Amino acid sequence: MPSHFQPVALEHASRLINHGPTVLITSIGADGQRNVMAAAWSMPVEFTPPRIAIVIDKKTFTRELVIASGVFGICIPGAGLVDLTHAVGSESGSEVGDKFERHRIDARPGPVLGVPVIEAGCSAWLECRLISEPHAQDTYDTCFCEVVAAAADARIFSNGRWHVGPDNAALHTIHHLGGGNFARGGDVVKAR
Ligand SMILES: Cc1cc2nc3c(=O)[nH]c(=O)nc-3n(C[C@H](O)[C@H](O)[C@H](O)COP(=O)(O)O)c2cc1C
Repeated sequence: MPSHFQPVALEHASRLINHGPTVLITSIGADGQRNVMAAAWSMPVEFTPPRIAIVIDKKTFTRELVIASGVFGICIPGAGLVDLTHAVGSESGSEVGDKFERHRIDARPGPVLGVPVIEAGCSAWLECRLISEPHAQDTYDTCFCEVVAAAADARIFSNGRWHVGPDNAALHTIHHLGGGNFARGGDVVKAR
């Protein structure tokens, strides 16, 4: 049988495993400054304590704020926020100012660290404390963090499980495919 496989240019190789949920990274600075960006590259690295690795490019304003404050938020946008997610991932807070005001994003300070948490249109949020790993940060732009608080919309996540169905489609996770295209993570397949 002929193979359908063709070589993939190495510059596109990361896209083959780039389908984790795209998230919103929120951050704070001095004088009540706040910022938000999109991030497609994140992964859990430990259950207990919950730890996550996330790539935050050194060119972003977010990175500057995160390094200075040592904290950030991760909000998980639902499919209804696909335009907003793409927009905040396509402009820098260092140039456009407060993206929360600019896009009328409803956010409030998280209960433990005070980083902005977004609930409207998001399925969940996590408050994270940066774990200082200068080598990973400087060399790979990878920021490790420990989650110190989290909450989820019970219409889609409760008792430690996702409940994905047609009734909560606007909260389904979005997965960046490149070029502003996203797959919606609402198609559940159950293994035997
Ligand atoms: C869908 C999408 C996914 C992105 N993923 C990442 C990522 O994982 N890491 C990263 O550093 N930048 C990522 N970006 C780019 C940042 O969101 C972008 O540079 C943003 O403008 C930074 O904003 P800031 O300068 O206000 O922090 C992504 C952008 C989009 C649109």
